[in-house]
Amino acid sequence: MNNLRTVSKIIEPQIAIEGAGVKLRRSIAPRVSNEYDPFLLFDHFAFNDPLEGPLRGFPYHPHRGIETVTYMLEGATHHRDSLGNQGLIGPGDVQWMSSGRGILHEEMPRRGPSGNIYGFQLWVNLPSHLKMAAPRYQEVTAAIIPTYEKDGIRIRVVAGKVNGVTGPVTDISASPLYMDVERAPGTEWQFPIPVGHTLIAYVFEGEGVFSGETVNAVKMVRFADGDHITVKTENGSVRFMLMAGAPFKEPIVPYGPFVMNTLEEIQQTLHELRNGTFIKE
Ligand code: CO
Repeated sequence: MNNLRTVSKIIEPQIAIEGAGVKLRRSIAPRVSNEYDPFLLFDHFAFNDPLEGPLRGFPYHPHRGIETVTYMLEGATHHRDSLGNQGLIGPGDVQWMSSGRGILHEEMPRRGPSGNIYGFQLWVNLPSHLKMAAPRYQEVTAAIIPTYEKDGIRIRVVAGKVNGVTGPVTDISASPLYMDVERAPGTEWQFPIPVGHTLIAYVFEGEGVFSGETVNAVKMVRFADGDHITVKTENGSVRFMLMAGAPFKEPIVPYGPFVMNTLEEIQQTLHELRNGTFIKE
């Protein structure tokens, strides 16, 4: 490892209102420029203020051409979909949903015992040959997500591999790495990342020095290419989501909850929604 991935961009999350009025912090969103290929969107929902009113959530909506990854830390998300699945994504659980050609689903947050709801949703692109594949779920409960722990470093490995600890989410086209990393004060860490993969980190607690640059919560960090990053903590601890994936390098046309490769495919999708042929299952 001799090519350090330096910080190329620090993104300030913007407050966005989505679904039926859910306030969230959005760092990246789908754009034709596809700057974070294969990643499309990253949302952070954190609410604990009863003045924000009743929980509204995300009533039934469609997806096509993408994967949505929900990771809860506090509270839960109750989900239901057009395939007949339903369940609760609880603290520490992950749902990795490949919409393929189409699902309709509902995602409704529920408060935890403390009254808080805290979690993330990541959208990962699908390559053109899988955008119309059958929908697929990987439901991963907290108990089966392995934790790597050593010298003040604690990593929950959802997808990818850390020193022989492999995450339970597999067979994803982007070959992703998706990890929840906690670092105690006064630690240093050097971590290999495949050359050419897009690498982003979402710093949501504390402060760390990422490849030489100090970053405070709450920020999204994008790294330049290379073969490794370094993360150092000084007086405080830091916690972040680390995400890497192989870019597909295909044109994209995003439209709301759909991301396809051409405008014709978006028009076809809207046509199918109108005439009731969107759901194939
Ligand atoms: Co959704």
